[in-house]
Order: sequence, then C-alpha cells, then structure tokens
Amino acid sequence: MIRFVLAAGLAVLSGGAMAADTRVLVPMPDASAQILLGDMRDHLTALDEILGALAEGSADVAATVAETRLGVDSTPRRHAEAIGPHMPPTMRDMALALHGSASRLAVAIRESQRLGADEGQRRVFGALRELSGTCSACHHAYRVR
Ligand code: HEC
Repeated sequence: MIRFVLAAGLAVLSGGAMAADTRVLVPMPDASAQILLGDMRDHLTALDEILGALAEGSADVAATVAETRLGVDSTPRRHAEAIGPHMPPTMRDMALALHGSASRLAVAIRESQRLGADEGQRRVFGALRELSGTCSACHHAYRVR
C-alpha cells in the first residue's frame, strides 16, 4: 500500500499534468494545422488497428496497416506539401523517424511469423516501442496550437 502511494505520488510529480509546458509552438496556417491534426488522429487509429490485428493473430493485416497508414510512403503528397514546409528541421527528422519505424514494424511483424513465438513477439514489441517512442518524442517537443 505504502509502495503504491509512493509510486502514485512520484507519477504525479514526474507526470505531464504537473510538468511545465516546454513544447515549441510551430506556427502554420490553420488549414495546415487541421491537416496535421487529422493525420494524427488517423495515426492513433492505425496504431489501434495494428494492436487489434495482432491480438487476433492477423499478422498480415497488422503489417499492411503499419506500412500503408504509417510507413514511409503513407503521407499523401497534398498533406506533405501543406505541413512539411512549416516544420523545423528537427521536427521533420522526427516525422521521418515515425514513418521509418512504422515500415520497420511492418517488416518485424512479417518476419515474426517465421521466428519462434518468443523471439517473434520480442521483435514486434521492440518495433512497436520504437514507433510509440517517436510519437512521444515529438509530442513532448512541439505543438501547433
Ligand atoms: C513529427 C512530430 C509528431 C509525431 C512523430 C507524432 N505526432 Fe502526433 N501530434 C504532433 C503535434 C505537433 C500535435 C498537435 C499538438 C498540439 O498542438 O496540441 C499532435 C497531436 C496528436 C493527436 C491529437 C490530434 C487532435 O485532433 O487533437 C494525436 C491523437 C496524435 N498526435 C497521435 C500521434 C500518434 C499515435 C503518433 C505516432 C504513431 C504521433 N502522433 C506522432 C506531432 C507529432
């Protein structure tokens, strides 16, 4: 119990709710920000669909969603043109890291099918963690509103 209370206290102290907002505001026209936010909502839905497909053992579906919705060629040109020019270089690198890690996740999911269950799962979770880490890193660094 005491351990739980201490852990909860630490979580509050170190958690986002209490932390100062140090994110850099990236100015862009409202239309561009709306496209970015719409893409973001789709990123989360895609992640949700990947996890759902993995839970059902549908590796092919999970890999296809990772590649087509989050992977290196997933951003429609119109969206890239609307958002890209407004991004600071570091933010652009983070966006590239997101798409690269999603494509690696697709490969890891496909490869996991011919690996043993333990090794396959470890690789998929590792790749998922790499992907979620890119979401987290950019969200801590930048905002558009
Ligand atoms: C290159 C930077 C970057 C990456 C990578 C990134 N995001 Fe975002 N995301 C943003 C920014 C900037 C916002 C807007 C934050 C703000 O101004 O409130 C945002 C907002 C969001 C929102 C809120 C959308 C809304 O309508 O309010 C969701 C959901 C989201 N991101 C999901 C994700 C997921 C899931 C990933 C990883 C798969 C991800 N993002 C990766 C930059 C990024």
